[in-house]
Amino acid sequence: MTELSPQLGVCYYPEHWPEEQWKEDASQMVEMGLTWVRIGEFAWSRMEAEPGKLTWDWLDRAIDVLGKAGLKIILGTPTATPPRWMVDKYPDMLAVTEDDHVRKFGSRRHYCFSHLDYKDECARIAGLMGERYGKNPNIQAWQIDNEYGCHDTILSYGRSAQLAFRRWLEKKYGTIDKLNSAWGNVFWSMEYDGFEQVELPNQTVTEPNPAHVMDFRRFASDEVVVFNKIQVDALRAHTDAPLIHNYMGRITEFDHFKVGEDLEIASWDSYPLGFLEDRSDRAEAFKHNFMRQGDPDFQAFHHDIYRAVGRGRWWVMEQQPGPVNWAPYNPRPLPGMVRLWSWEAIAHGAELVSYFRWRQAPFAQEQMHSGLQLRNGMPADCAAEIKAVAAELSSLPMLETRPASVAIILDYASAWAWDTQPQGRDFDYFKLVYAFYCGLRRLGLSVDILPPDTSDFGARKLVLIPGLMSWNDQLRSAVNAFKGQVLMGPRTGSKTQDFQIPPDLAPNIDGFDLSITAIETLRPSAPLELTNGGAFHIWRECTKTKAKIVETTKDGLPAIIQNKNQTYICGWPDEAAMHRILGDIAKAAGLKTLDLPDGYRVREIGPYELHMNYGNEKIELSQFGGPNNIELQGAEIALIQTTTRKRVI
Ligand code: GAL
Repeated sequence: MTELSPQLGVCYYPEHWPEEQWKEDASQMVEMGLTWVRIGEFAWSRMEAEPGKLTWDWLDRAIDVLGKAGLKIILGTPTATPPRWMVDKYPDMLAVTEDDHVRKFGSRRHYCFSHLDYKDECARIAGLMGERYGKNPNIQAWQIDNEYGCHDTILSYGRSAQLAFRRWLEKKYGTIDKLNSAWGNVFWSMEYDGFEQVELPNQTVTEPNPAHVMDFRRFASDEVVVFNKIQVDALRAHTDAPLIHNYMGRITEFDHFKVGEDLEIASWDSYPLGFLEDRSDRAEAFKHNFMRQGDPDFQAFHHDIYRAVGRGRWWVMEQQPGPVNWAPYNPRPLPGMVRLWSWEAIAHGAELVSYFRWRQAPFAQEQMHSGLQLRNGMPADCAAEIKAVAAELSSLPMLETRPASVAIILDYASAWAWDTQPQGRDFDYFKLVYAFYCGLRRLGLSVDILPPDTSDFGARKLVLIPGLMSWNDQLRSAVNAFKGQVLMGPRTGSKTQDFQIPPDLAPNIDGFDLSITAIETLRPSAPLELTNGGAFHIWRECTKTKAKIVETTKDGLPAIIQNKNQTYICGWPDEAAMHRILGDIAKAAGLKTLDLPDGYRVREIGPYELHMNYGNEKIELSQFGGPNNIELQGAEIALIQTTTRKRVI
């Protein structure tokens, strides 16, 4: 149990506004009920106009003005925006795309994580900032860089990455023979004589060896960890304030858990409407229904991911306040949604919800992105909602978070594995894990995400392990010791760490007499119906087993197989099958479930439950097993005391 006293903040760019305006801005922030402000993360060209010519005076004054107003400051290192002189100094620091094009200067995130001189420059600027502001009492937290992986920036195929990849392989394998055998390079005569011959896995005639790609993906992820750690070390020498990164939505290209291990707090940037349009697999009708609210499960899923990445401590660093500028369609949120999103984050344990951005930018790429104020300083639509959240928070007693009864294992390496070898065009690891997550949420369950090296599931009652590429010892022992229900598959345990088929076949679960003997991927038009309703789509497995067959597909093959408290699912259930199967297993785990429509979601927060109506229509909560006599309009929320069933908000 962790006590929680959530606060609100905002992202601010003093370098975009005349200095005379800062004081007024700061006092208006305070007046709105905000207590934190994030600054600095893109201001390298103003901190260091020429190499070595440091210009801190404006930042000193900005920090002073904001601090004097009573705001706590998150100071960002500006390494996501290397200035033009940096690129002129190191032209080969620019990232290179898979089709060998050099990415250009003129926006942001234009660096390769492996460029040694650029890493030194990042250590230098972070160190200088630490030296200058590390003990400044106004600086209460630091953000390192900005959104690793955003704009497709983890993988780079240039010379720096090439050289670093060879060093990484040499460290991993020691001898080239070991690499040849781990990758199976006897296939197609791909054997190497030395590490210096290994290239990056792009521009091959047909597909490269998946083991080669997989190692490149592991390497690229490790490079992010190293890049981040360099700045952690540079700052840590000067400050005790928490170090944070702001992750993004649906980015799986690097292992967030590993980056998170070096930071005190995880945060993410939550853009519900942008994400629905830009990175959702939902059907068109669903997107239409939720165009002004966002996908009712997407925010929650990421809140739960980042709570895990931050080992319990997490923030929303950027919260969408109104229309964004970057999605294919950019609608306005329904009135009430900014409040709902804020409360939802809090219900998942956010310590801070910080809105992006204070005032709409008058110029450049994001001038069509809304803020809390219009360009002329008039309050934007969301301002009143944010004020309301601040007032509600100040009247609430201390909140607390507790572990959820249900957990899902999330493994970034599995995302790279199935990206490398999907076997059918619709197989996507994020989509698979998310489908299970949404199924649990439809049952009204609160969920924890756990990393793949979890060795103990604690007091949880149900744990899901879908699509895990390969077992590790910790997870195996957690599964073996667990008394609750475990649901595994499809595709779980189907590769060795070297990306080979395990000698004993998948799923390789201790004490479970079950082997996967064949798999097939399915066209969207050819789902396989299950005997009790719903179907498998996208993926199905054929098995050899002596364990209990709980259900079959209508073509007579085992679909759900059980060994004591362990259940294996031999396919990807569609929504109807998911609902039924998860409902049954939740019941076996002794969990109380609801049957919620798409727009109605619930999340436990200590002694409370937050009930949210993401829908457009009014709902009567009791109709779906919720508390009596509460009606929620679209975009409305109710905070309910769980024991008394009284509505607090
Ligand atoms: C985020 C980013 C911000 C801003 C925002 C616009 O991805 O961190 O700097 O670009 O999007 O929605």
